[in-house]
Amino acid sequence: MSFNATIVKFSNVKYGLNSARFLSLNNGYYNGSNTIKTDAAKPYERISDFYAGKSVFITGGTGFLGKVFIERLLSTCTDIGSIYVLIRGKGGMSLEQRLQQMTDVPLFDKLKSLKPKTIKKIIPIEGDVTKPDLAIRTSDEQKLIDNVSIVIHSAATVNFSDTFSDAMKINYEGTKKVVALGKKMKNLESFVYISTAFTNADKLTIDEVVYPRLRKEEEVYSFIDIYGDDAEAKEKFLCGSPNSYTMSKSLCENYLQENRGSMKTIIVRPAIVSPMIGEPLPGWCDSWVAATALFSDVARGLTKVVYGHRNVVCDLIPVDYVTNLTIVAAARGNQSDDILVFNSCSSSSNPITWKRASDLFLEESLKYRKYEMKPRKVQFYMSPFVVKFMTFALQTVPAVFTDVLLRLKGETPKHLKMQKLPVVLRDIISKFTMTSSYIKSDNSLKLIATLDEKDKVLFPCDPRTISWLKYMPVFYRGVQKHLLKSKQ
Ligand SMILES: NC(=O)c1ccc[n+]([C@@H]2O[C@H](COP(=O)([O-])OP(=O)(O)OC[C@H]3O[C@@H](n4cnc5c(N)ncnc54)[C@H](OP(=O)(O)O)[C@@H]3O)[C@@H](O)[C@H]2O)c1
Repeated sequence: MSFNATIVKFSNVKYGLNSARFLSLNNGYYNGSNTIKTDAAKPYERISDFYAGKSVFITGGTGFLGKVFIERLLSTCTDIGSIYVLIRGKGGMSLEQRLQQMTDVPLFDKLKSLKPKTIKKIIPIEGDVTKPDLAIRTSDEQKLIDNVSIVIHSAATVNFSDTFSDAMKINYEGTKKVVALGKKMKNLESFVYISTAFTNADKLTIDEVVYPRLRKEEEVYSFIDIYGDDAEAKEKFLCGSPNSYTMSKSLCENYLQENRGSMKTIIVRPAIVSPMIGEPLPGWCDSWVAATALFSDVARGLTKVVYGHRNVVCDLIPVDYVTNLTIVAAARGNQSDDILVFNSCSSSSNPITWKRASDLFLEESLKYRKYEMKPRKVQFYMSPFVVKFMTFALQTVPAVFTDVLLRLKGETPKHLKMQKLPVVLRDIISKFTMTSSYIKSDNSLKLIATLDEKDKVLFPCDPRTISWLKYMPVFYRGVQKHLLKSKQ
């Protein structure tokens, strides 16, 4: 692994577009070629009006983002038709049990109490993106073909340590099958693919365009046949893409570019998705993704040393900002023949560094002081030797010492063991903590500018409105409550 990371400092990043211009663009629509045309004759279309009577098909609906897509659509677009959700069999549960499990979380409490009937608009469709034709029943497929206006394809494996072969099977082959289904839909207005801003993390500046693939499909499959998951060979093969997950997602973008047919296609690329910032439940999260796990390990005194530099930007974006932007993008549609790409991110408009974010998270946690291992502000080093040495000094030695004290008290030692996973996680995400990508979001900001004040309130997704000082405590409390199930 190369540790020659490039650090881009963002302290002087400006918004790039001026806000007075944004305001003058209300009532405009996005025409897909990086320009917004204002049309005085065209009445403003409210986002909820667009969805009235229309049905949406969501894959990955049981996931972190998927549940928020469903909750937000039902809460904000009351007259929406049906939301069809692709759900696979898992853990011996029936389709109905999985649906029940999906909505039986605090995220849906408000909706259930305020609009109890809307939950019935969710229609589960049994299927699996790894199976031929998605393994959807013929009658269900016909229902989707006849009724769906919007597809949001979010299903994926997001596990950075999944095998290359699984990432390709679920993410790439799965996307091909969802595209094939989308092409059959009679009333399809938008096909939205949820990608990741890091599909192009081999670049320092990431624009809202589909970049040429780093590797061809056949090259990937022949690599997998020969090398499987050989770490050293993979590192070279990935050509700067951080992992097999990001490469599989990048191939999906290229597949869409070449095979979308006449489908109006939109790609939304979230950066590092963090807990909810706004409605209905600030702090909501149910996924231990990169930054969430790292900050939590820092606050628990398990991680004190990280690869990188204090100025590297951590491109956080709250989950509801991603889903709201997607809902708005699908409603505004793609008026062009090209693919429309929206980066849902904060690095280019309101950046925060890993250091600042983890310090703010830790600061909030210290108000509660519950952990056995004393936490401290995280230290960043670029050199692998220094990281390893400081990890030994600041993490291993105190853990061994605390374990000895436990042994003396007749208790089972545990602290050294507890260090293992946090170190693995820290190393897996080192590419992100060592390099700042400047992820542009001009398209997204222009899209937001088409909203009137009421829709801006209903569908907040402008990263410039995030106060990190206020948000990071919400982030901390959300992790405690929903992931660690702590009562604090
Ligand atoms: N979370 C992030 O930080 C982040 C950042 C950038 C981009 N994204 C993108 O956002 C999307 C959603 O991510 P997430 O965080 O919500 O992931 P997640 O919580 O892990 O959810 C993944 C979803 O995909 C479904 N799925 C996986 N394999 C499937 C299969 N074989 N057939 C049908 N469904 C399958 C899962 O269903 P089960 O419940 O059955 O497992 C689940 O609903 C992904 O496309 C991801 O690449 C996420």
